[in-house]
Amino acid sequence: MREVILAKTAGFCFGVEQAVQTVYRQAEEKEKSGVQKDMPVYTYGPIIHNDEVVADLRKKGVKILEEGSAPKGEQKGSPGTVVIRSHGISKAEYEALSSAGWHCVDATCPFVKKIHRIVSEESRKGSFIIIIGNADHPEVKGIRGWVETEAAVIETEEEAEKFFLKKPMDICVVSQTTFNNNKFKDLVEILKKKGYNIKCVKTICNATEERQREARQIAKKVEAMIVIGGRHSSNTQKLYEICKQECKNTYYIQTLRDLDVQSMQGYNSIGITAGASTPKKIIEEVQKNVRNEF
Ligand code: F3S
Repeated sequence: MREVILAKTAGFCFGVEQAVQTVYRQAEEKEKSGVQKDMPVYTYGPIIHNDEVVADLRKKGVKILEEGSAPKGEQKGSPGTVVIRSHGISKAEYEALSSAGWHCVDATCPFVKKIHRIVSEESRKGSFIIIIGNADHPEVKGIRGWVETEAAVIETEEEAEKFFLKKPMDICVVSQTTFNNNKFKDLVEILKKKGYNIKCVKTICNATEERQREARQIAKKVEAMIVIGGRHSSNTQKLYEICKQECKNTYYIQTLRDLDVQSMQGYNSIGITAGASTPKKIIEEVQKNVRNEF
């Protein structure tokens, strides 16, 4: 009897799951409600980097609103409902949407919301804010947009070395939720050596680490490991590398279609994990087939 182990942490993290469910709920409510029937539902940028989910939502009438400039409505009155995705947005964007009449449904992950609160409060108290993360990432742009005064984004050791305050200020350091833990510590160490008064709030979310830890554990004990996720998804690629280190028969697939049934036949134990933007439906499909078909 073949043993199939599905990672509990496979697929969407809590924040993404919540955001995706919010959009589906909004789409359903629109369908049900006569009053809202003409009001389109949008997501502010693609809700998630997964083509299947975005296409499925499109079928349900959900559109994507371009991020960036203060969007105008398509009709008089409220232009519609817009769901803010788990990454969150800046305060200015939120205000621009609201004042253009959009009905905003905020599906920002509560862990990201907490960072917004911290930087807003700390900057109001007069601290300089340092965000450890990638300046181009929407989450970091959003966090920066809640800082009331000055902020800097630091991602590399060189940037940390070069950083200096123009005037004496306390510093509050936060991080992008998906930033690497060890790298975060190293960067904070560099900043601390400069003698600044630093309050460091660890805002890294452990969903990614947990997923990687569990994948490694499973890969260690199975004969074959299946990693499901988008070809360009960096967190799925990372999962694949980790599993491959532990289990040489590791397969990277996007959907069930990519799974070579023949090559799986000889294994007595198979593990399954999936990247952060892989929908449950795809994971279940693979799991069902691995359990039943071979
Ligand atoms: Fe996901 Fe929220 Fe963490 S979006 S990765 S649970 S910060």
